[in-house]
Amino acid sequence: MELKTAIMERHSTRGFSDRPVSRETLRDVLTMAERAVSSVNCQPWEFAVVTGDVLRTLCAEITECFERGDPADITPWFGEGIYRSRRSEIGKQLFAAMDICREDREKRRWWTARGYRFFDAPAAILLMMDNSADEFSCRLDMGCVIQNICLASMEFGLGTCVEYQGVSYLEPLRRNLPASQGKRFVCAIAIGYPDESFPANRVVSSRADVDEITSWYGFDEE
Ligand SMILES: Cc1cc2nc3c(=O)[nH]c(=O)nc-3n(C[C@H](O)[C@H](O)[C@H](O)COP(=O)(O)O)c2cc1C
Repeated sequence: MELKTAIMERHSTRGFSDRPVSRETLRDVLTMAERAVSSVNCQPWEFAVVTGDVLRTLCAEITECFERGDPADITPWFGEGIYRSRRSEIGKQLFAAMDICREDREKRRWWTARGYRFFDAPAAILLMMDNSADEFSCRLDMGCVIQNICLASMEFGLGTCVEYQGVSYLEPLRRNLPASQGKRFVCAIAIGYPDESFPANRVVSSRADVDEITSWYGFDEE
């Protein structure tokens, strides 16, 4: 796949087919992804790749936390002003695609619950960094590997959705993923073959015009 095509066409996948993803394919994705840049090449990322019964157990236990109304351990930043508007815009786009109206609390809850089940993907990647890792620089490195996972996945026809929801409740993760001892969960990535007929998968999120977010210096000099 062309790099430009991958970058321009990547979008979050929130509906997956049942087709399983092999360990070999997921391993290839991660091998490509870990070519990401990192500060002083410290490579702070670690992955827990989950499928089958372990994934089913995780989904059930996380869903229980959500249904009980447990306070989430990790919540996204919603921001103010333009950041809040952008969040609201993508929310509206997704709800419109899924035909969920504002007042339909039940359907909205159903939609939210899917996120806690990794959107029913056949596999999920949990991204972790060591407790000793520097919060500022290592989290930047994590962002680099996350984007690489999303792009590398496309080479194999896979769709992804990066999500905080999958790491919102830490207890089920700690219980089921022993390798997470001494690590911080950063986010999850739902991964699988996209269900092309799933309406939310056709949502194209907006981006600011590049000139609105860029200052140019020295280009007008003779
Ligand atoms: C760190 C991070 C956390 C995210 N968490 C969620 C989430 O919990 N649920 C969700 O549906 N999408 C989540 N997303 C996906 C974003 O909503 C999505 O990337 C954004 O709206 C842009 O859409 P696009 O990926 O289709 O371009 C997350 C993305 C990132 C980078």
